[in-house]
Order: sequence, then structure tokens, then C-alpha cells
Amino acid sequence: RILIIDFGSQYTQLIARRVRDCGVYSEVHPWDMDAAAIRDFRPSGIILSGGPESVNESDPPGASQTLFELGVPVLGICYGMQTMAAQLGGRVEAADHREFGYARVRARGHTRLLQDIEDHTTPEGEGMLDVWMSHGDRVCEMPPGFRVMASTDSAPVAGMADEERGFYGVQFHPEVTHTTQGKRILSRFVHDICGCEHLWTPGNIIEDMTARVRQQVGEDHVVLGLSGGVDSSVVGALLHKAIGDQLTCVFVDTGLLRHQEGDQVMATFARHMGVRVIRVDAEERFLKALEGVTDPEEKRRIIGRLFVEVFDEEAGRLTNARWLAQGTIYPDVIESAGSSTGKAHVIKSHHNVGGLPETMKLGLVEPLRELFKDEVRRIGVELGLPSEMVYRHPFPGPGLGVRILGEVKKEYADLLRRADHIFIEELRRDGLYDQVSQAFAVFLPVRSVGVMGDGRRYDFVVALRAVETIDFMTARWAHLPYEFLDRVSRRIINEIPGISRVTYDISGKPPATIEWE
Ligand code: XMP
Repeated sequence: RILIIDFGSQYTQLIARRVRDCGVYSEVHPWDMDAAAIRDFRPSGIILSGGPESVNESDPPGASQTLFELGVPVLGICYGMQTMAAQLGGRVEAADHREFGYARVRARGHTRLLQDIEDHTTPEGEGMLDVWMSHGDRVCEMPPGFRVMASTDSAPVAGMADEERGFYGVQFHPEVTHTTQGKRILSRFVHDICGCEHLWTPGNIIEDMTARVRQQVGEDHVVLGLSGGVDSSVVGALLHKAIGDQLTCVFVDTGLLRHQEGDQVMATFARHMGVRVIRVDAEERFLKALEGVTDPEEKRRIIGRLFVEVFDEEAGRLTNARWLAQGTIYPDVIESAGSSTGKAHVIKSHHNVGGLPETMKLGLVEPLRELFKDEVRRIGVELGLPSEMVYRHPFPGPGLGVRILGEVKKEYADLLRRADHIFIEELRRDGLYDQVSQAFAVFLPVRSVGVMGDGRRYDFVVALRAVETIDFMTARWAHLPYEFLDRVSRRIINEIPGISRVTYDISGKPPATIEWE
């Protein structure tokens, strides 16, 4: 296993994902991880991440000296290389000009790390790599024992190696896809240099996790809030495999779900897999609580609170449950560890159990705590969940409640469900569903005039929204083909009495958000 020491780079999680893509387990820990914890981790290799600081500032974050004394290989990336250089007796200075973005480095192919890895060869026979650089400082004097492994005109030491100790540093970022040979470089490090085997596979992960869950809960019963989303679905499938009938799922149908979503959840889990699922039909309760409420945040609060209430009531009835399962995943864990105390425990708001009856005293089961989203999806498929469920676009906790502008009514939710379903069905038919990150319809409670046959219509408006994004923090609207939009619009207006106009949302984020409320 590989220990990744985080100095605050925006790419640290990416390093961990790339290493796991190589089939090797990795964990991210903060730079001030203490020496005992480092030893307990027993890494086969260590990667020092990049970071925003400069080693020449006063009191820069440094790597624990223990990291260099364990006798295992160390790879420093960007700031990680600089702190390695400074801590092992070299020198780092501010570069004349900063380098950000694409760069071509001469790769001196004599090191184990870069041997035979190159994008181009110069007429002189030197290897060249196309890489992604971002640095303001550069190593000007290498520590004793190191040799130059890569260089550019502005950074004579863009890579350095002490092969005897297995210490390597690169100024560029092998973890980002812009560095075309990045995956091979990381694979060379973890497999050939650290000697890790390709053991982190979906099958092994499942085996390992089911064994751990069995050990954690023994003969006890576990309750899980199933939402139909990817994470809770995969937890459900995993726990069912691990403990069978000791698992009870509670599925709250809020009446604000997508077309036939409740039936699909029941079909997959209850009928197909034989999971014990309690379906709570709470539509009336949710609609009643939302009556007359138009403010988006107020709607969110009401839906969230009611969800917890309903879930608690059902869970409270399961008198033998000792554990509550949650779909917490690794990015949630890293984010909370990065915050103030480092020990914060994130409870997903959707499954917030703050109100569970005191007497229940449930322990937490979080089998996905170590997994990234793409790993969760892969084990979901391996566990036999339908891929439409596992690769579904994200759906907000408050559901259609925030896609019906203003007051929520059953009539509106029914119209919206149908329009949304047509949009999604057509996206799938044209192979566009997986090309966009999120797509949905929004209900606008305004009427507009139309004609159909000889009749005049005066009906509601639906807006279609489709975006492309990596992280959902920024997004661009998807440039869907006109013919496609035309077909969706015709179908919606022809097939759904009550909707007479369709618009397409061409706002980016920022300044617009992805959802309309
Ligand atoms: P926005 O609208 O903020 O959406 O650009 C970014 C992503 O977050 C989802 N989203 C939510 N998810 N509860 C959730 O669980 C919410 O209240 C909520 N609001 C937005 C949204 O669907 C998108 O993927």
C-alpha cells in the first residue's frame, strides 16, 4: 500500500485515484501525520503531493523525517520534490519566471522511474516528455546522492533521483491526464520500484469489505436508508452480500422522485436481489408540509427535516437494529479530515440521523469510506446492480422539490416527471446520456399560449437543462444537437397535456447554478 502525504495540492486526491487505478491501495494523510502513525501504516512506498506553499517561506510544512528513514521508496511531486530537496540537504530558490501549464521536459532515461518512458525523441536521441507543470520555485542544488533525471530550460532540475535509496522527485504532475505518460510513470513507481502487486480490484475490494462488515456487526441487525442514489444502492448491495437478512433498508418515497423511481428501487432490491426493503409512502405528508411554501431554502429545510423524521420513525420500529449503515465515501472523509480538527465526522445530510431515538444507540457502518466514486461504481456493477442505476446522473436530495419553481404541487410533480422522463429517454436513445454530466427538466409554473389543431392552449412551461462538468463547481451547458432538442420538445408538447412550451437553458455555472433553485 502507498501512503500519500498531502501538502494541500488541488491534485492530491487525483494521485490517490491514479495509484488505485494501477490496482494498488493508497491513502491520503495530512503532511503533519505523526511518526508512529506513519510506521503503523507500513507503506510499501510514499508519495509527497504538491502544495501551494514555498519551502523558502518561514516555517513551511515539511515531511516527517520518518518518511525518509523507513527504507521504502519516496516520490516527491512538485512541492513534494522541493521539500524533499530542502530537507535532505539541497537548496530551492524562487524561479526567474513561474511555469504553469504544458511543458516539454528532457527526460534522462537512465533512471528506473523514467527508463523507456517518453513521448518524443530528439535528433540527439534524448527522450522528451509532455507534462503539466506548475511551479514558482525550483531546485537549484540537489541533496547529496541525487542525480538529474529531467530538465527544462527554466528548471535545470525538473526531476531528480537517488536510485540507491529509491528517492525520486519530479517538478511536473504525473497525476493529471495532461501529462501523457503520467499513468505509466506512477505505475512504474508503485509496481516496479515499490514492488506493489495489482491486488486492488473490484472483486478483492468486495471480498475484503464483506469480511470486515461481518466482523464489525457480528450477528447484529443493520438499518440502511436507501435513496436510489449510487452510494446508498452500492452499500445496500454490499451489505446484502455480507450479512443477508440481517439488513433492513428503509426507502422513503417522498413523492418528489423521478419517473417510476420508487418502483425501480423496489424491483432491483426487493424483488431481484431479495433484500428486505420497507417502502414508506410519504408523498402526502411531504406535499402537505410544502403547501404554500415558495422559498427554495425553506423548501429544502422542510424536505430535509421531514425526511429525517420519517426515516427515524421507521428505523425506530426496528427494535433489533444495532447499526446504521451510511454511504459515506472517501472524498467526504478526506474533506472532513482536512477541516479544523482533523477528526470531524461527516454525516451526509440526507441520511442525517441526528434525531434517531436516543435509546437506539446505533453504531455506524460505512463500508465505502475508503472508496472513490469511480471505485464505488465499479464494485456496484460487480455486485450485480444494473448499470443504469450505477451510472445515473446525480439527483439532489430534495428531488423534484427544487425543480418545481415556487410552490410544489402534485399536479406539477406529475407533469415534470413525465417531461423529465421523455428527455432522459431520448438522451439514452441517442447515446447522449453518458456524454453529459447531468440532465433534467425544470417545471415553470407560468402559463403560455399555444395552438394545437384548432384549439388554443394556455399551459405550463418546461425548461430542459443539460450540463457538462468535472466537479459540479463549474459547468458549461451541453451543446446538444438541434434535431435532438427538436424531437424532445415535440414529444413533450404532444404527449403531455398541460405543457405547451419547452425551452433550453443556455446558462453556464457560474453565474447560474446547475439547479434552478
Ligand atoms: P448547483 O445547483 O449548486 O448544483 O449548481 C451542484 C450539484 O449539486 C446538486 N445539488 C444538490 N444535492 N441537495 C443535494 O443533495 C441539494 O439541496 C442540492 N442542490 C444542488 C445538483 O443536482 C448538482 O449536481
